Amino acid sequence: MALYSEKVMDHFTHPRNVGIIEDADGIGEVGNGKCGDIMKIYLKIKDGMVSDVKFETFGCGSAIASSSMATEMIKGKPLSDVLTVTNKAVAEALGGLPAYKMHCSVLAEEAIKAAVKDYYDKNGIEYPIDSPICPAV
Ligand code: FES
Repeated sequence: MALYSEKVMDHFTHPRNVGIIEDADGIGEVGNGKCGDIMKIYLKIKDGMVSDVKFETFGCGSAIASSSMATEMIKGKPLSDVLTVTNKAVAEALGGLPAYKMHCSVLAEEAIKAAVKDYYDKNGIEYPIDSPICPAV
């Protein structure tokens, strides 16, 4: 069996939503202290929904695939739904990741939450305490 699913390879070789949103409403940047990989998510919010999302990931193939899939999963979604996206859901949507690569999908969950928190902070909205942003491990 191949180490990586076809979906992982597809999103790694043809990542969706790569780039920067210059006038982003929320930006989240997280990193993994062990591998040194960094992920940055840019959100454009309209009427409480993600109207646009882009990412920059300086990291491994699994991190790039996770970023790509995660951005596809939150595009057009209300922020309440966006905050429920877990790294497990991202990994499942990719057809699975090897156990030692699961932390790459954690970066995607954390970057999304950090971007939503940034948007909430800028707009004086309280960030839900049940959606903690944990340091990636
Ligand atoms: Fe660090 Fe993938 S090896 S994010």
